[in-house]
Amino acid sequence: MKRRTVLLAGAAAAVVRPGRAQGRQLRVFVSSQHRPDVMRRAFDRFEQANPGVAVRIETGGNTSEVQAQYLNTVLSAKDPSIDIFLIDVIRPAQFAGANWVRPMDDAVGDRAKFLADYLPAYAEANMVDGHLVALPAFADAMFLYYRKDLLEKHGKPVPTTWDELAATAKAVLAAEANPQLQGLSFQGRAIEGAVCTFLLPYWSQGKELVRDGKLTMDKPAALNSFKLWRSFVDSGVAKRNAAEVATDDTRQEFQAGNVLFAVLWSYGWAQFQGPGSAVVGKVGVARLPAVSGGQSVSCIGGWQWGVSAYSASPAEATRLVRFMSSPDIARMLAVEGSLMPVFPALYQDKEVLAAAPWFADALPVMASAKSRPVTPRYNEVSDTIRTAFNAVVGGSLAPDAAVAEIEPRLRRVLR
Ligand code: GLC
Repeated sequence: MKRRTVLLAGAAAAVVRPGRAQGRQLRVFVSSQHRPDVMRRAFDRFEQANPGVAVRIETGGNTSEVQAQYLNTVLSAKDPSIDIFLIDVIRPAQFAGANWVRPMDDAVGDRAKFLADYLPAYAEANMVDGHLVALPAFADAMFLYYRKDLLEKHGKPVPTTWDELAATAKAVLAAEANPQLQGLSFQGRAIEGAVCTFLLPYWSQGKELVRDGKLTMDKPAALNSFKLWRSFVDSGVAKRNAAEVATDDTRQEFQAGNVLFAVLWSYGWAQFQGPGSAVVGKVGVARLPAVSGGQSVSCIGGWQWGVSAYSASPAEATRLVRFMSSPDIARMLAVEGSLMPVFPALYQDKEVLAAAPWFADALPVMASAKSRPVTPRYNEVSDTIRTAFNAVVGGSLAPDAAVAEIEPRLRRVLR
C-alpha cells in the first residue's frame, strides 16, 4: 500500500501556529474510508486544547485487511513513525498478542467504571487477557440501505427477507428499464467484510460458526448462504462483476443513484446526505433481510484507537486517544460522519438524531448483531472464508464445492 501523508485543513496551519514548532508531533493513521476530513476536525479541537501538540494524519487503504497489512509492516519493524491508529474490532487481541499496543489500564482511572459507559461489545473487544488494550472509537454494523423514492414509486414495501428483496429488485429493475440501475450492491471482493456478508444469511438460519473456539459449521446453512449470494448475480439482481466490489464501491455506486438496495456499514449515510450525492433525501435504512423463516441478524463492526508500543510520545498519544474516545467526539463523528456511537446514550441524542434519524432504531440492531469468530487464528479463518466467497460470487467455484473446501480448512485452523 502506498504511504500517503495528507495535510488536510488544519494540519499545515498547525506548523506555523506559535508554540507548535518546538512542540510534539503525533502521527495518526486513519483509513481513507473513515472520514479523515471529519477526524481532522476532531484533531483540530485537540490541538486547540493542547498547545504544543500537533496532530498529523496519515491515511490510506480503504479496506480493513489492507490497513492491517500496512500496520503489520510498520509495527513489525518497530517503526515509531505512527503514534496512534484505528484497529478493527476483530483485531485487538492480535495487536495485543504482538505487543504492538500500549495497554491503557492506567490511563482511564477506574477501569470498570470507565468501560461501563460503552456498549458492551466494545468494552469486551478491548479487554484482552485482563488488560485494556485500546479505546473504542466508533461502533458499526451492516444495514440495508434502500431507495425510498423508488420503493414508493413502485408501491413496494421494504423487504424483510432476501427472497422478497430479490423479487422487489426484479420488479423495480424491469419497470425502471434503466441499464445503470442495480438491484442490490454487496461486496463480493475477497475483503474482510466478505466474512460478514457470508455470515449474514448463515447466522440468519440460527447457526453458529464457532463455539468455544471450535468449528460448529452447519454445512446446509453454509451452502444456502453461498447459493443465495450467487443467485443475486445469476438472476441479474446484482451486477455481473459483483466479485470485484469492495465496501466503498458500494457506497459510491449507491451515492451516484445507481443502486436500489445496498448492504453497507453505517458510514455511508452521511455521504448520501452530503454534497455531490445524487440521493439526498431519497435514502432509507432498515434491518437486513432474513433468510425466509429465519431471523434478521447483523454483523458487528467498529473501530478502536490504539497507541503504538513504539510511540516516542506515549503520554501525549494516550491523551489524544482518551480525547478521541470521549462522548463529545463520539457525538461529532456520529453527526458529521454517521459513524455509530459507542455510547448507548448518544442513540437518543437530539443532535445525533437530527443528522442520522435512523440511529433511533439502530441500538436493538447492535444488541442482536453477532461477532465474527473470536480466535487467535482469526486471520486464517477470514482468509479461508473470504477467498471462497469471492470465488463463488465470481462464478469460478460452485457453492457446494466452496462448502467442501472451507469446512476442512476451518476445522484444521480451529482444531
Ligand atoms: C467496517 C467495519 C469493520 C469491518 C469492515 C469490513 O469498517 O466497521 O468492523 O471489518 O467494515 O470491510
